[in-house]
Amino acid sequence: MIAGMLNIFETINNAKDTMNMQKILAFDIYGTLIDTHGIVSQLESLIGDIAREFSASWRNKQLEYSFRRGLMGYYQDFSICTRDALLYCCEQYRLNLSEEGIRELLDLYKMLPAFADVKPALSALNEKQIACHAFSNGSRSAVQQLLECAGLERLIASVVSVDDVQTFKPDPRVYQHFLKKTGACREGTWLVSSNPFDIIGAIHAGWQTAWVYRSQSNIFDPWGMEPTVAVPDLRELAMTIMGNNGRKPT
Ligand code: LAC
Repeated sequence: MIAGMLNIFETINNAKDTMNMQKILAFDIYGTLIDTHGIVSQLESLIGDIAREFSASWRNKQLEYSFRRGLMGYYQDFSICTRDALLYCCEQYRLNLSEEGIRELLDLYKMLPAFADVKPALSALNEKQIACHAFSNGSRSAVQQLLECAGLERLIASVVSVDDVQTFKPDPRVYQHFLKKTGACREGTWLVSSNPFDIIGAIHAGWQTAWVYRSQSNIFDPWGMEPTVAVPDLRELAMTIMGNNGRKPT
């Protein structure tokens, strides 16, 4: 009984130590800072009501292609996964787009918007001198372009891309690569992501994690692994990280 209680105190103290440690934040890009469905209104003018469903299928296929390429050891730039997934979805939804139409959509994808809460949250974290890095499946140039379009580039300390190691999240080598590039220690490194597969990859790599769930209807994979904290949006993430009031997901 006492031993059990000591373990609880130890756990609480360890959690406090982790929250107080110098933190390095690694922000996922697609789906976390940048809204991958920010293209829906343009899709609506092409395909009407099914635009949202099309956008979700496109995103899911893009990720599937990255996972499969990672497993096969057949890396190609993430933009290739994006393009091939778009071609697949055009077939699936019988959308007969010209080459120019495809190029236009892919060009729009390079300028997807940021979520509204990103800028204020990153600004607040920067003011507290908490290092905010971008950490993405996207190439460095693609991520830089997105950050510039969204006016975020000055709030991001560096861009770390999986392109350097030629594989995709959640391969453990990409999380290791982030630590090497930034000189961070894994106990003090936080992955901030809306993508549960990315969060689980980071937990597996020994990092702290913040799952930005955005909607109560989003489901965390039931693998028996929990993020360090779960927050509805980046405003609360910033408050949690700055205020050390991390709360366990419910
Ligand atoms: C990224 C993908 C996982 O930006 O959304 O890394």
